[in-house]
Amino acid sequence: MSAGADGSGGGGGAGTEARVGGGSPGADGFVPSALGTREHWDAVYERELKTFQEYGDTGEIWFGEESMNRLIRWMQKHKIPLDASVLDIGTGNGVFLVELAKFGFSNVTGIDYSPSAIQLSGSIIEKEGLSNIKLKVEDFLNLSTKLSGFHICIDKGTFDAISLNPDNAIEKRKQYVKSLSRVLKVKGFFLITSCNWTKEELLNEFSEGFELFEELPTPKFSFGGRSGNSVAALVFQKT
Ligand SMILES: C[S@@+](CC[C@H](N)C(=O)[O-])C[C@H]1O[C@@H](n2cnc3c(N)ncnc32)[C@H](O)[C@@H]1O
Repeated sequence: MSAGADGSGGGGGAGTEARVGGGSPGADGFVPSALGTREHWDAVYERELKTFQEYGDTGEIWFGEESMNRLIRWMQKHKIPLDASVLDIGTGNGVFLVELAKFGFSNVTGIDYSPSAIQLSGSIIEKEGLSNIKLKVEDFLNLSTKLSGFHICIDKGTFDAISLNPDNAIEKRKQYVKSLSRVLKVKGFFLITSCNWTKEELLNEFSEGFELFEELPTPKFSFGGRSGNSVAALVFQKT
């Protein structure tokens, strides 16, 4: 699996593989996959942690550097205050948290259900000499603490991964929307980047309690006379 669905790296990311790959699609058209399981991500980040410790390589950036710049540009354009509380849902190696902190955001939190992802994020953040980033091992579908009141929630590839869970992904997507409603302030923004879902599908998934605020431009592809976007990047506002 690769992080380059945004044209800045390898292959098509979790969703592309799952939609076009073999196996039997579920009711929503997705082929359940190991990519939707915690075991998979634990193994990925254990490996990436070792690589970081040995070679200092931070590992995959999902959807490439541009996907981070696009989000930060949007926050800049909309004059999101630097002390706004930002939650990165399924932060992985935490590289986006580092970018936010370097840009000047001072109230940044990353959660991931994989302890090795959080360990890797912590190591990268420490190496960068950044001290004001909060990290927590949390399953977004089963939040154990009182995480709430965020101005901004970011999702880069996590909803995609959850959608591939072999065990009742439809219910898990519904739970995701509930958890999002719980952690985000009213009028807060949710910025999602996905290679599994089209704009229209995302509008449908987040139709209850959220409205589309803006669609962010992403690279277009054309093939066989048809054209489209390989990645959707949308900003929703909680109503
Ligand atoms: C495709 S990776 C994206 C990582 C990161 N957002 C990035 O852009 O590089 C998906 C991430 O979501 C995390 N994840 C999946 N399901 C989760 C859940 N229920 N709660 C918290 N994290 C989850 C995985 O551990 C993994 O780090």
